[in-house]
Amino acid sequence: MDKLIITGPCTLSGSVRISRAKNAYLPILAAVLLSNKPIHLKNIPELQDIKTMIKLLSNLGVQVSKNGNITTFDASTLNSHEATYDLVKTMRASIFVLGPLLARLGKAKVSLPGGCAIGTRPIDLHLTNLEKLGCEISLHAGYVEAHVKKMLPTSLTLAFPSVGATENLIMASVFTEGVTTIDNSALEPEIDDLAHFLNAMGAKITGIGTQKIVIEGVKSFKEVTYEAIGDRIEAATYLMAALATGSNITIEGVKSRHLQFVIDVLKKMGAKIETTEDTIQVFKSELTGCQIDTAPFPGFPTDAQAQMIALCTQVKGISVITENIFENRFMHVPELIRLGADITLKGKLAIIEGGAPLSAAPIMCTDLRASAALIIAALTTTGDTELQRVYHLDRGYEKLEEKFSQLGAKIKRVKE
Ligand code: UD1
Repeated sequence: MDKLIITGPCTLSGSVRISRAKNAYLPILAAVLLSNKPIHLKNIPELQDIKTMIKLLSNLGVQVSKNGNITTFDASTLNSHEATYDLVKTMRASIFVLGPLLARLGKAKVSLPGGCAIGTRPIDLHLTNLEKLGCEISLHAGYVEAHVKKMLPTSLTLAFPSVGATENLIMASVFTEGVTTIDNSALEPEIDDLAHFLNAMGAKITGIGTQKIVIEGVKSFKEVTYEAIGDRIEAATYLMAALATGSNITIEGVKSRHLQFVIDVLKKMGAKIETTEDTIQVFKSELTGCQIDTAPFPGFPTDAQAQMIALCTQVKGISVITENIFENRFMHVPELIRLGADITLKGKLAIIEGGAPLSAAPIMCTDLRASAALIIAALTTTGDTELQRVYHLDRGYEKLEEKFSQLGAKIKRVKE
């Protein structure tokens, strides 16, 4: 297992280019299954989760070829409807293939994703709403088995604005004769991106970016070339790393409006940040503590909560962060405490008394965003921090060592 050695403290400078969003490309890749025409996707990030999704597509019979920064998918050769446990268990997002397989083939067998490090994460909203669309679903031997003769145009209302359920239901409905609506749908920018991609192929989706998505069924799709949006969570990670280390950096290749809430919170804490549509410039700033609740978009993203806690350890005063989306999403806290952070957990609350310097120690990644928080903390410590189990980071941060090194950090990977 690889580990990272981070030698701190360091100040970052220069600019960093953000990769295309993993959480946009995962559903887009699943949507490839809908079409029997070639699909050309630009700049797919080289990440473990993406490789898993592409492997899953290949197992289902999709032809995949790469030419430079363009990957072409041809699902005209789709010959299976089964996503097996060995792949699904490594990535919950595999459940995204359920909707597209049902829409295209009328049947799907997908392994249940099971629990994951940040909580139980059920898929009940995916399944109950697919049933409302006319699908027959049974759970058998760890698999979701689903069939549908004809999808029914239906008005759905989600009990909670789940990102994955919204995406799965949109994909399931693109060929349904008539109009399907999804009320209380999630508003995350990655959902808009999926809808724009589907529309580029010929789907008729309106209400994009609102809580009511309207899907008018079409008969078929056409060939398309598409590039997903920049990764707002990767951008938030570099933004917080810069503030934690008192650095001036420019973040390029992400829509600053996708991080508006985060930027507003940071500005309230005293951060000097300037934005254009596609860049975020951050300057060395004196920060004070904050009070934050994670919430669905446009609120503060749960995926940036861990990084924010790491930043708060470097901010004078008390910060209180409430995690409302996932239970068990404070696994970075014991590791940050190993570095000397003063953090108390009370149920959904993390109370951080910031300002005391952290010191280097061996620490361990526990999940993707927790690992990003540990990197931020390690950049501020004096000495070598050894970060184990970096495969968690490889799931979601493209060229992490390269990007941080270009910004001036001393970070190296040790292969074991
Ligand atoms: C997506 C993101 C993930 C992010 C999360 C919230 C991808 C690949 N992943 O995950 O990085 O942290 O949004 O912004 O895009 N829930 C149910 N039943 C369901 C579905 C969800 O109870 O059927 C609950 C979950 O347990 C969780 C909450 O709803 O507590 C939010 O989950 P959801 O929005 O579905 O997140 P994901 O799509 O899994």
